[in-house]
Amino acid sequence: MSVFIWAALLSSVTCSSADISASAWGRQHCVSGYCVTLNEGEVTVEAGLCVVIPCSFRTGDGFTPKHLAWYKCEVSEPRCGNPIMIFHTNNSIKVQSGFKGRVSFLEHDLSQNNCSIFINKLKQSDSGSYHLRVIGELNGKPDGFSFSPRVTVYVKGLKLKPTVMIPTLTEGQQATLTCTAPGLCSGSVPQITWTWRGAGGTESYITGNSTDFKTENLTAFTQRHISTLTFNPSAKHHNTNVTCMISFTGETITEETSTLNVNYLKEVKISGVTRVKEHESLNLTCSVESFPPAFIVWKSLTTNINPDNGTNTDLYNDTGSATLVIQNVAAEHSGQYVCEAKHLDTFLTVNVNVTVTYKRNLQITGNTTVEEEHVLNLTCSVESFPPALIVWKKLSTNPNLHSGTCLYTGSATLNIPNVTAQHSGQYICSAEHLNTTVTSYVSVTVTYLRQPLIIGNTTVKE
Ligand SMILES: *[C@@H]1O[C@H](CO)[C@@H](O)[C@H](O)[C@H]1NC(C)=O
Ligand SMILES: *[C@@H]1O[C@H](CO)[C@@H](O)[C@H](O)[C@H]1NC(C)=O
Ligand SMILES: *[C@@H]1O[C@H](CO)[C@@H](O)[C@H](O)[C@H]1NC(C)=O
Ligand SMILES: *[C@@H]1O[C@H](CO)[C@@H](O)[C@H](O)[C@H]1NC(C)=O
Ligand SMILES: *[C@@H]1O[C@H](CO)[C@@H](O)[C@H](O)[C@H]1NC(C)=O
Ligand SMILES: *[C@@H]1O[C@H](CO)[C@@H](O)[C@H](O)[C@H]1NC(C)=O
Ligand SMILES: *[C@@H]1O[C@H](CO)[C@@H](O)[C@H](O)[C@H]1NC(C)=O
Ligand SMILES: *[C@@H]1O[C@H](CO)[C@@H](O)[C@H](O)[C@H]1NC(C)=O
Ligand SMILES: *[C@@H]1O[C@H](CO)[C@@H](O)[C@H](O)[C@H]1NC(C)=O
Ligand SMILES: *[C@@H]1O[C@H](CO)[C@@H](O)[C@H](O)[C@H]1NC(C)=O
Ligand SMILES: *[C@@H]1O[C@H](CO)[C@@H](O)[C@H](O)[C@H]1NC(C)=O
Ligand SMILES: *[C@@H]1O[C@H](CO)[C@@H](O)[C@H](O)[C@H]1NC(C)=O
Repeated sequence: MSVFIWAALLSSVTCSSADISASAWGRQHCVSGYCVTLNEGEVTVEAGLCVVIPCSFRTGDGFTPKHLAWYKCEVSEPRCGNPIMIFHTNNSIKVQSGFKGRVSFLEHDLSQNNCSIFINKLKQSDSGSYHLRVIGELNGKPDGFSFSPRVTVYVKGLKLKPTVMIPTLTEGQQATLTCTAPGLCSGSVPQITWTWRGAGGTESYITGNSTDFKTENLTAFTQRHISTLTFNPSAKHHNTNVTCMISFTGETITEETSTLNVNYLKEVKISGVTRVKEHESLNLTCSVESFPPAFIVWKSLTTNINPDNGTNTDLYNDTGSATLVIQNVAAEHSGQYVCEAKHLDTFLTVNVNVTVTYKRNLQITGNTTVEEEHVLNLTCSVESFPPALIVWKKLSTNPNLHSGTCLYTGSATLNIPNVTAQHSGQYICSAEHLNTTVTSYVSVTVTYLRQPLIIGNTTVKE
């Protein structure tokens, strides 16, 4: 953006005899061979910035210019009865203190006829009309000529904002923000400060930051002032604001606030119950806190449960979080499920093992009628997941026989190799599955056949 603002001519003082011709520098006004070229139109500039008043002049015959001076009049004083000197090419002549050091002459060689000036660090009080006076000798005698065309400059409050450049921010990767001050004035080095507002808008600061300031010389009179803020972005900086504030000469302040977007990815989290009862519903949510939101897909590594009967197909997809819901689960829904999150170019996967619990009816196999000295072999089993705890017990009034015999998971075999008649009676198989117990009674009969017993007197009296 250029701050070379072409100055204007205050046209109320043109004389009928004036010779007016237009050029790129503005309009030329001549009176008795003394000409000045200034641009028309009012100049409005923002405080803290600078202005260039382009100007060229020519003097009448016999006049030798030695010095140039610029004067300022208040806008409220159209007749300009009380001009104040703001610049003189002779440094030993005192100019109004407020302008000291702020006005530069663009061309030091008067023979070039260039009377352009540059006013820096503009203040609102600099508003006014400016005109040129040439000082020299006319036919060997000291003389001077004040040009009546004037340039009107309005200085208003600073509205231009700094330019803030933010690269792509990624958590853990150092980044540098750049803030460029508006205006390209030399001399008025602005103070550039950065502030950061954390979550909730509370003023805070970015730990471990570093700032740098640099000035680039563009031309003899223009400079660009840049401040950089280098820090290590993290998730906590996402959606927070950073402000670059520029202060020219401590009074004019302009600022620009930018919202930071930080690419970050937190761990993949799976919530929900992975162990469900048959006929109930499975409801698992996979979520990833990230920016931008991650694309999430649930996949199943088990077969034949997908809607299209395929394997490894996407079940549910979404951004940020995806919920896998299977109503009325069956045993075959048990297995591994995968939540895959895609964030930018990164893939993250988390496996989860889903367990469907179920229990079928208790079954007892084997012969409950067994001959003495034979083997009693009864098996009690329950098809279930997880396997049930199964205990065989004999119901007896004799406490010595009331003891667990076998304890297996899934199935238990009651095996008595050499039964005696005492083994007859009621047996209980009880199966404990997920804190519920089912029992089944079975009656065992031991059959036996003793040697025939002959009772009588083999010695008989005749
Ligand atoms: C950041 O600035 C925007 C407007 O610029 C505002 O709406 C938002 O609330 C600010 N956020 C914080 C965390 O201050
Ligand atoms: C940078 O860190 C310093 C302290 O080390 C702090 O005063 C300043 O506010 C920080 N700047 C930002 C923009 O957070
Ligand atoms: C810019 O110019 C100033 C004088 O106008 C000089 O002091 C400074 O060293 C220059 N800086 C660079 C980076 O050239
Ligand atoms: C799944 O669980 C979440 C909370 O855990 C609940 O908000 C949602 O309604 C459940 N979905 C179904 C289909 O039950
Ligand atoms: C999926 O398989 C089941 C039996 O395994 C079948 O009844 C059903 O029609 C199949 N669905 C599709 C969409 O092929
Ligand atoms: C996500 O699922 C919807 C249907 O549930 C499907 O239309 C879409 O194509 C899927 N997107 C991807 C990328 O798999
Ligand atoms: C899921 O089960 C498989 C074996 O079936 C095992 O290798 C894996 O570690 C389990 N994963 C989790 C998360 O428990
Ligand atoms: C059980 O055993 C008895 C005696 O050994 C035998 O008579 C009976 O046929 C058997 N029953 C079955 C169903 O095997
Ligand atoms: C069975 O038990 C009886 C009495 O306890 C014993 O006499 C017999 O030898 C046993 N039979 C076998 C095959 O162990
Ligand atoms: C008990 O019976 C089962 C079949 O019901 C059989 O497989 C097993 O070998 C038998 N055990 C003995 C010790 O006879
Ligand atoms: C079974 O009971 C024990 C304590 O009695 C308890 O800690 C456990 O969570 C229960 N398990 C189920 C599946 O209800
Ligand atoms: C058997 O009969 C004989 C003669 O009649 C008699 O002497 C004997 O006492 C009897 N023995 C028993 C055990 O009765």
